[in-house]
Amino acid sequence: MDKDLMVSVKNVSMEFNMSTEKVDSLKEYTMRLLKGQLFFESFWALKDISVDVYRGETLGIVGNNGSGKSTLLKIIAGVMKPTKGSSEIYGSLSPMIELGAGFDPDLTGRENIFLNGAILGHSKAFMDSVYDEIVDFSELGPFIDTPLKNYSSGMQARLAFATSTVVKPEILIVDEVLGVGDFHFQEKCERRIHELMDNNTTVIFVSHSIEQVQRICRRAIWINKGVLMMDGPVNEVCETYLRESS
Ligand SMILES: Nc1ncnc2c1ncn2[C@@H]1O[C@H](COP(=O)(O)OP(=O)(O)OP(=O)(O)O)[C@@H](O)[C@H]1O
Ligand SMILES: [Mg+2]
Repeated sequence: MDKDLMVSVKNVSMEFNMSTEKVDSLKEYTMRLLKGQLFFESFWALKDISVDVYRGETLGIVGNNGSGKSTLLKIIAGVMKPTKGSSEIYGSLSPMIELGAGFDPDLTGRENIFLNGAILGHSKAFMDSVYDEIVDFSELGPFIDTPLKNYSSGMQARLAFATSTVVKPEILIVDEVLGVGDFHFQEKCERRIHELMDNNTTVIFVSHSIEQVQRICRRAIWINKGVLMMDGPVNEVCETYLRESS
């Protein structure tokens, strides 16, 4: 049987422009911009990355700070367009990339559940039918009617995780968000990810907790300074990363 291709990243490179001089204020920045005195240096955050992910796979991405993991996830999720190459997904996607993305800090938890549902393309009726389950899972209790800006980062992560996994997406992307949850919530999230995996959801998972990556994923890639160093079974990749990264 052919494996279903769910995510296909082909020769992706991402260039960012960084100001080469330190500019202290918006006023100075604007003045320099107008005078054409602002110089940028190009910087490649990702260099020719290719990776295919198949249905039911769980792919971990490991690498040091600033190596390009979140940039790659944003490109896969379609939030950013790569400078070179292409990225395609073949299925419904629930991305949890940045804490607060898809949420409005001035709205309550309850209102944000519906806002996020609308952003992901779900009907009000569908969100009504899963609302109790989301609140239950998030364990926010009475805080559900408090504006999001008064939530701790762990509380925000609970709401985001509960909302993005209730829909049983075909592709789940999780960037580091679980790290801000407490131990009890992290365990609960891992259980839910395993349930989704039993349902053949494809998972792409980024965490600085190598143990967590090893528990959740069977395959991993290691990215170092934008370069794909290794792609293979999770334990081999994680051991090499821990041994060789500096
Ligand atoms: N919008 C942007 N504009 C300019 N540079 C950016 C932008 N986004 C990311 N970068 C740079 O690209 C590089 C890769 O960043 P990225 O966030 O992908 O790293 P990461 O592997 O997720 O790191 P961490 O482990 O700290 O989350 C960094 O040097 C970062 O400063
Ligand atoms: Mg990151």
